[in-house]
Amino acid sequence: MPKLFYITTPIYYVNASPHIGHAYTTIVADVLARYHRMAGAETFFVTGTDEHGDKIAEAAQKAGVTPKEYADKISAQFRSLWPELSITNDYFIRTTDSDHIDTVRYILQKVYNSGEIYFGQYKGYYCVGCERFYVEKELVDGKCPDHQTTPEYREENNYFFRMSKYQDWLIGYIKKHPDFIRPERYKNEVLAFLRDPLDDLCISRPKTRLQWGITLPFDENYVTYVWFDALINYITALNYPRGDKFKKFWPTAQHLIAKDILKPHGIYWPTMLKAAGIEPYQHLNVHGYWNSDQSKMSKSLGNVVRPIDLKDKYGLDAFRYFLLRDMVFGLDSNFSEEAFVKRLNSDLANDLGNLVSRVITMAIKYCDGKVPETSRKKKDSLLYGAALKALSEVEACFNDMSLHKALIAIWEFINVTNKYIVEKEPWTLGKNPGNKGNLTAIMYDLLVALRAIAILISPFMPQAAGKILRQIGMDESHRLDLASIRKENALTAGSALIRGESLFPRIDKEKEGHKTTKRESLADLGQEIDYEQFARIDLRVAKILEAEIVPKSNKLLKLKVDIGEERTIVAGIGKDYSPEELIGKKIVMIANLKPVQLMGVESRGMLLATDTDKGLTILTFDREAQAGAKIR
Ligand code: MSP
Repeated sequence: MPKLFYITTPIYYVNASPHIGHAYTTIVADVLARYHRMAGAETFFVTGTDEHGDKIAEAAQKAGVTPKEYADKISAQFRSLWPELSITNDYFIRTTDSDHIDTVRYILQKVYNSGEIYFGQYKGYYCVGCERFYVEKELVDGKCPDHQTTPEYREENNYFFRMSKYQDWLIGYIKKHPDFIRPERYKNEVLAFLRDPLDDLCISRPKTRLQWGITLPFDENYVTYVWFDALINYITALNYPRGDKFKKFWPTAQHLIAKDILKPHGIYWPTMLKAAGIEPYQHLNVHGYWNSDQSKMSKSLGNVVRPIDLKDKYGLDAFRYFLLRDMVFGLDSNFSEEAFVKRLNSDLANDLGNLVSRVITMAIKYCDGKVPETSRKKKDSLLYGAALKALSEVEACFNDMSLHKALIAIWEFINVTNKYIVEKEPWTLGKNPGNKGNLTAIMYDLLVALRAIAILISPFMPQAAGKILRQIGMDESHRLDLASIRKENALTAGSALIRGESLFPRIDKEKEGHKTTKRESLADLGQEIDYEQFARIDLRVAKILEAEIVPKSNKLLKLKVDIGEERTIVAGIGKDYSPEELIGKKIVMIANLKPVQLMGVESRGMLLATDTDKGLTILTFDREAQAGAKIR
């Protein structure tokens, strides 16, 4: 077990508010940080925001504020979300911080001085969404494969980093360090990229078209390409090149990202580090995508899942547990509130919650409300063996990032403990005072098992772990020490047992109905707009002519509408409306939204709807309205 641990999340773009995908990565990083702290490692955990570049400049312009004002606002949303999710980051970095700007300029100058940056001409298709150039063969029907927008053709002089020079070195390095990029599928993906010749990386943008960035130290007419700037955050956060923190933590650096940003982290970053004379990071841990309704989350589809809503509705620990248990690290997962409630009821309310309340109730009854004395040696206890097995499995799972398996191992232990109660029948033993010794030993074993369970779940569910430990009479000081699961007599005889509230109340779906609470707080309203800005949104009366389910989707409907011309739109309302009941309805539609592809269907517009306790309701008219009429 390394005694130092450095973990980072991606620094998130400040062009959109945080959603469940950002929350997932940051919670995984938090689980890792908490685990390593508990295992005795000195840990440094960094998250933050990525604030320069075209994307942010554009979003700010749309909102009618300066890029810095815009970045301040969204960065603050991320920063204030994390404590709500019990994230224990040690540092929050912003790429607009002055020390970061200094570090980026320092690295650029260093790499420039060593001759690894040159001036040249770039010709190609530029996608603002991706902030990168494409060559023609990469485009699909002339459009960016990710954004379905037509990139601009640009020719301009720029600075280039000689990334191609490091191609063979990188291939060799990855092959020599098989878990440098993990899980393996992503290592293979990077090696597959590297089968084609690597281009040099364009690392500048002329100020004539973008000012929102870090000025190159060797040419003040250019700003730094946002990825060259952003990746360096991982060493700025360690005060590179000053102080000891970098020397101490960098050799243990682990990055955590989703598959969308594999290339910059798997290729640009190690080659940048090499060129700057810095050793590569230790591991790149790559996870899959959370989808909603089988498609990527997007505002226009109305399927963005907001972490705060779920936390408010079901509790933080349940939310953290579900995310970590349901996603196989490395693979995609589909978020469904139904699956969430099912797991909450079965794993948390039934298996864990009931276990805790049964043990505490019985121990209070049979042991006079206190942790009993016991002379039993731990090795004689079946539960001790099960705890050790769970512990070593959990350790192995954390070493190879199979976190859902760590939870499976803990739940096996919980189930063994539940079975132990059923087999020992303490309630029968309790009827005969002659069984007192045996009963006390059984209760002691159960209390020790609860302690081990609390410690093992604590990185995932810190609040529940704290509640369990308080119930078995432990104070803050001996709480979170992983190795203490192996210790004899881990509990202090005589400590008071405290009955607490139910840890995870069952969710009764009938009572709850199917509400999906999507409260939009006023803080999310963003910048005020004037009438002119509003008038740019072309709202029309649309008459639904045809409606059908999009194959393989459980929520999407394809609608043919009349807005003075015929249009096809895709709407995420299939759970609330049947195709038949929609035909003939007149609804409100945004007619000038950029087209998007949703599950293979091009949607050219969006209908308007809102949430109610009984599901979605679409906006209609209470007097006869003409299809195609403009709405003001
Ligand atoms: N700013 C860059 C990262 C620079 S790091 C030096 C960026 N930002 S981002 O806001 O787009 O965040 C991308 C990351 O957010 C993903 O890699 C992942 O960690 C998280 N997620 C965003 N959406 C996600 C899902 N739908 N599912 C899982 N995680 C996703 O890229």
